[in-house]
Amino acid sequence: MLTPRGAYPHIRMRRLRSEGFIRRMLSETHLRSSHLILPIFAVDQPSYEEEIAAMPQVFRLGHSQVLKLCGEAQALGIQAVALFPAVEAHLKSLSGKEAYNRQGLIPRLVRMICQNFPDLGVITDVALDPYTTHGHDGLVSDQGEVLGDATLEVLRRQALCHAEAGAAIVAPSDMMDGRVKVVRGALESSGFCHTKILCYSAKYASAFYGPFRWGIGAGEDLGPEGKKSYQLDPATRQQALREAAYDVDEGADMIMVKPAGSYLDILRDLKNQLGLPTFAYHVSGEYAMLKAAALQGWIQEPEAVLEVLLCCRRAGSDAIITYYAVQAARWLQERNQGA
Ligand code: PBG
Repeated sequence: MLTPRGAYPHIRMRRLRSEGFIRRMLSETHLRSSHLILPIFAVDQPSYEEEIAAMPQVFRLGHSQVLKLCGEAQALGIQAVALFPAVEAHLKSLSGKEAYNRQGLIPRLVRMICQNFPDLGVITDVALDPYTTHGHDGLVSDQGEVLGDATLEVLRRQALCHAEAGAAIVAPSDMMDGRVKVVRGALESSGFCHTKILCYSAKYASAFYGPFRWGIGAGEDLGPEGKKSYQLDPATRQQALREAAYDVDEGADMIMVKPAGSYLDILRDLKNQLGLPTFAYHVSGEYAMLKAAALQGWIQEPEAVLEVLLCCRRAGSDAIITYYAVQAARWLQERNQGA
């Protein structure tokens, strides 16, 4: 690194920014639609569409709308979708057993999507929150403790059920210890050696998941501790590194940091130290903030959103899960066409 010695005016940093050509030529980071992953909220209805209150332009969708959206995403160059179910109350239980029902909503949707869009990557969430009555990601004891070890067996069955249906990537988001080891073992011993594990390694106990919880109708009342006994404390950094290192040892192919914007330091650390494909999850609350400001006319939406996503890339994200995926892919397309 050069030490600047007050060499002005020989040195003028602005020379490197003074025309469009030089800015374009020197840009180090690129954002393309192939870097965006679209999360989809699904309900078990043939045809259904309901906007999520705190997430304008994001919907809970029935089967046919999910397929239509997958088609739109693919046409825009998006390579993968991540499915999240809003499960009917009568299917929720303390055991969360609907999570591994082979005829459940997620396995059926995965099969439908794979049949209609064989080139689209399908990512499924491995965690129990949509399926438990309390909305925790794991099983809960009578005393209210979230039981990691007991949960692993349910997660194992859930991941296998998704892989059997054709999910290319299973994504444990539950933060129980040992989950990747158990899921990897199950996949290997059942012949799913190509099924990828995208591990939510650095998932923080964040206040920015609220709109998502309303979106899937789960975890709206988790008690005063929320998910703090298993998700990372926003005040910690070393634990994120250790979590991710163990996940990699246990067989994760890709790791994720969540939320995105306020956690880019973690993302850069993980990318530098582990060198794995590393994703950012631009979460529901982050979407809601941008969308709300945009609807007020307080920010210029395409510019602001594309900047946020580009900065995730600059921090080291290979791909970004974002509710803006389709909208952003359209803006990128318009930009490329010089609109
Ligand atoms: C839970 C899960 C959550 C999200 C993705 N998977 C919520 C939580 O941990 O409570 C949040 C995503 C978002 O806010 O956009 N398995």
